[in-house]
Amino acid sequence: MFLGCMDRNRKKWLLIGVGSVVFVFALLTVLFWDRAIAELKAQGYIPYTPSEAQALAVTKCSQCHSTERISKYCFRCGPPLIVVVHNMRTLIRLERAKGKKGIEDYTDAQAVAIAQVWNALVGNWEDTWRRQDIVKLLEGDKALLELLDTPIEERHIEVALSGKMAPGAYRYNQKTPLKPANPSKGP
Ligand code: HEC
Repeated sequence: MFLGCMDRNRKKWLLIGVGSVVFVFALLTVLFWDRAIAELKAQGYIPYTPSEAQALAVTKCSQCHSTERISKYCFRCGPPLIVVVHNMRTLIRLERAKGKKGIEDYTDAQAVAIAQVWNALVGNWEDTWRRQDIVKLLEGDKALLELLDTPIEERHIEVALSGKMAPGAYRYNQKTPLKPANPSKGP
């Protein structure tokens, strides 16, 4: 065999070499596992669980104002939260472009998760707006446009969290809470 015809010394070094590679690999995996998983979730390869999404929404959305601003937001106050999530993204980019440090942006997958969280906790009034108006306000935000066309019963985070009201939330009581924003039935 290959190892058999090596002298003892070379065998020893080979084993040490292989052992070190395995060790370093294992160490890196342990050290960066959480970060790797977090990155895979942020990029949408692994879905957020509802409670992770909720924690994410609170972290990302309390960077500039309190979450009370969100829980008090109501259907009379402005466009549905899917649009707000898009607008805040724009605000974050503006702040960052101005050179403000320490404000974290969110990825597409995170925007989709965050929008679902606030829809569930505060209210979803996408079906009371004309679809074309929402589409216009989303300004080509592909991920959120895709969410808009996802029936609510298929939005797993929104479904899981619906019924968990944010403290102090105004909450718009939809007459048809599970009606999807269906493009084929659009105006
Ligand atoms: C870059 C800082 C920043 C971040 C991060 C941020 N916001 Fe805002 N938010 C603002 C500013 C500035 C305003 C006030 C804008 C205005 O009044 O026109 C605001 C206002 C709001 C309002 C009130 C709008 C209204 O018409 O009353 C809501 C709701 C809101 N944000 C939700 C969110 C959500 C949800 C997130 C997370 C996705 C978020 N914000 C993240 C800066 C931010």
